[in-house]
Amino acid sequence: MGASSLYEDPALYELAFSYRDVPAEVDVLEAWYQRRHGGKGARRILELAAGPAAHAVEFARRGAKVTALDSSAAMCAYASRRASDQGVALEVVQADMVGFRLPRRRFDLLVAMLDSAGHVLDLDTMVEHLRSVVAHLSPGGLYVMELSHPADFMGGASKTQDRWRLTRHGSRVEVNFTSPPGGFDPVTQVATCRISVRVTERDRTRVLRDRIVLRRWTATELDAAARLAGPIRVVERHGSFGVEAPFGAGDPYEWRMISILERTTDA
Ligand SMILES: C[S@@+](CC[C@H](N)C(=O)[O-])C[C@H]1O[C@@H](n2cnc3c(N)ncnc32)[C@H](O)[C@@H]1O
Repeated sequence: MGASSLYEDPALYELAFSYRDVPAEVDVLEAWYQRRHGGKGARRILELAAGPAAHAVEFARRGAKVTALDSSAAMCAYASRRASDQGVALEVVQADMVGFRLPRRRFDLLVAMLDSAGHVLDLDTMVEHLRSVVAHLSPGGLYVMELSHPADFMGGASKTQDRWRLTRHGSRVEVNFTSPPGGFDPVTQVATCRISVRVTERDRTRVLRDRIVLRRWTATELDAAARLAGPIRVVERHGSFGVEAPFGAGDPYEWRMISILERTTDA
């Protein structure tokens, strides 16, 4: 028997989202960081709401000192196992990404991948989250936050595919991730999304159905949250994991909203 919640079943979660090319995304995260730091790479990295921590493990494999933080005990245990199986050092912390405190710790780069920051549901909580980010970033350090593209909920043509299939290690996986119109509150911009993951291995099929509640953030709201949080500003935005990927320019490959926030030096 598996878990009934996707975040309590890290192996299934990882399988469902294994369409991503994690090393290629980490290449781009490194390039964005280096471009703003005269070619110097990030040495201390914190992945927030890291889940199975695939990006954290990849950064650690490349030699960085990495911490992965998540609120789910199952995800934390899985991330630790994954790192030790791959022979890399990874610090794993079970904590809430809102209001987290890692005493006396500063990082060069923080990342929140996929829609993880969508779990921050309102503006006050986002400001609190960004204050924690500021407290853990060295001056000039960056926070890269990947979120859904606003076109997915502001009308117009959605940028994101909500069904996909893949095959991994002999398992066939079908994922259906929908945000039904009735599940979106236009006042709070909070969506109750439905996800089903069907896995078929030989003649056995297992289906997990879950609901995931996500705030749909716009670019201008994140700009405002950063201004309210203190010395942190959005300095770049990209529509996909490409070093020069434009956002808001009608690029055919634009499908995400990836904000790069920089910790400024003013107090
Ligand atoms: C969509 S998954 C993304 C996982 C990972 N970032 C990735 O790219 O695959 C969201 C993760 O956020 C975690 N999460 C949700 N709310 C959180 C919170 N308030 N603080 C920390 N982690 C949280 C969940 O446990 C889950 O692992």
